[in-house]
Amino acid sequence: MSENQPQNEVKITVRPNGPFRVEGAVTLVDAQGGQWDLTGKPAFSLCRCGASANKPFCDGAHNKIGFQANDTAPPPAVPPTATENS
Ligand code: FES
Repeated sequence: MSENQPQNEVKITVRPNGPFRVEGAVTLVDAQGGQWDLTGKPAFSLCRCGASANKPFCDGAHNKIGFQANDTAPPPAVPPTATENS
């Protein structure tokens, strides 16, 4: 977890050409409600390429298949200025 992150906050980072990195205390459940044991794992990576042999976790297979995805968040909205509101 990064040092500026509040202790109870979950942070998910979209890794370029790779997985979703999840940091923080979360519960991960399958479609039937079964729960993965994440004890002792302050962070883990979820596969988004579909090639992992250990889904839902990333096992590095994205490198072997040449997975390409470099998603970026949109820039923050600029609040209207006082002159735009009058
Ligand atoms: S994102 Fe890493 S194996 Fe799929």
